[in-house]
Amino acid sequence: MKNKNILITGGAGFIGSHIADTLINDNEVTIVDNLSTGNIKNLKYPNHENLNFIEADICNTDLNDVTSGIDYIFHLAAMASVPLSVENPIKCNEVNVDATVKLLKSAVDNDVRKIIFSSSSAVYGENRNMPLKETEPLMPTSPYAASKASCEVYLKSFFESYGLNYTALRYFNVFGPKQDKNSQYAAVIPNFISALLEGKQAEIYGDGEQTRDFIYVGDIVKANISACKSNFNGVVNVASGEKLTVNRLYEIVKNTLGSNLEPKYLPERPGDIKHSLADVGNMEKINLKINSGNFEKQLSDTVNWFKTTL
Ligand SMILES: NC(=O)c1ccc[n+]([C@@H]2O[C@H](COP(=O)([O-])OP(=O)(O)OC[C@H]3O[C@@H](n4cnc5c(N)ncnc54)[C@H](O)[C@@H]3O)[C@@H](O)[C@H]2O)c1
Repeated sequence: MKNKNILITGGAGFIGSHIADTLINDNEVTIVDNLSTGNIKNLKYPNHENLNFIEADICNTDLNDVTSGIDYIFHLAAMASVPLSVENPIKCNEVNVDATVKLLKSAVDNDVRKIIFSSSSAVYGENRNMPLKETEPLMPTSPYAASKASCEVYLKSFFESYGLNYTALRYFNVFGPKQDKNSQYAAVIPNFISALLEGKQAEIYGDGEQTRDFIYVGDIVKANISACKSNFNGVVNVASGEKLTVNRLYEIVKNTLGSNLEPKYLPERPGDIKHSLADVGNMEKINLKINSGNFEKQLSDTVNWFKTTL
């Protein structure tokens, strides 16, 4: 992607900053971020001449002004924490839904070509029909998940009503450098890494035979850019489509770090799902191919990043 005007909301966060780092050399990039969970230090080129960084809250900034002249929007800014959304559902709705609708309206008014929305596998909630296809019923169990599901419905309605192009990407368990170790998603990876780096036993809830579908942040960047270039309007799961047990994951992290510490097994947490797996057939619709054979290398890159940062 070259010579485009790009807006990234939440561009100082874990995923948004990776998108910004990838696009900044060849495009004009505007970031709107209130730095609530993001950090300017996440950006590789915070002083790049192509970067226009606006420190602002998407709830009360003039989005019409921000989206003027923009070709593509990557919309990531959100209250991205399930527990916080349970604590404060009104605020969650304000940030995740109200501000998104305002952004969509301004995108229509400013003839934005396409918006790529960061949705989540959380929208499937209690649906256990693995592997999960995009057509499966949504069964959100938190205000956060409900807000993502609402945004997907709004995106479809703006496409139908005003022709605003969109792709909503449902990320599964994302991991990679710059991930906040307190993040609810894939927190298991940063937790294993930081425990072992500190010479402590890592904790596993249950017997460790639960499975997850992990996806590297670099592949999430690819998904966003591929979605942007494609003509596909709709929803796409973004995942590896492969299940990995938490025990196997622990083995890989342990071997990468050359540790011989055994994990500590704790009782299963109520509400934890046993298996999560995506059907990734729709990724073809945005011409996205992910090489899941790179997992161990991606994990070791992540381990190395944590090693130098922690
Ligand atoms: N990380 C994952 O595994 C995962 C999985 C599914 C979906 N998602 C979604 O992807 C997006 C990015 O997630 P992330 O992991 O990078 O989280 P993050 O918390 O690192 O990034 C979110 C960014 O948005 C900013 N932000 C929050 N509220 C804002 C507001 N009101 N105004 C302006 N900026 C605001 C934060 O400061 C932060 O920089 C989120 O929408 C999240 O729901 C993430």
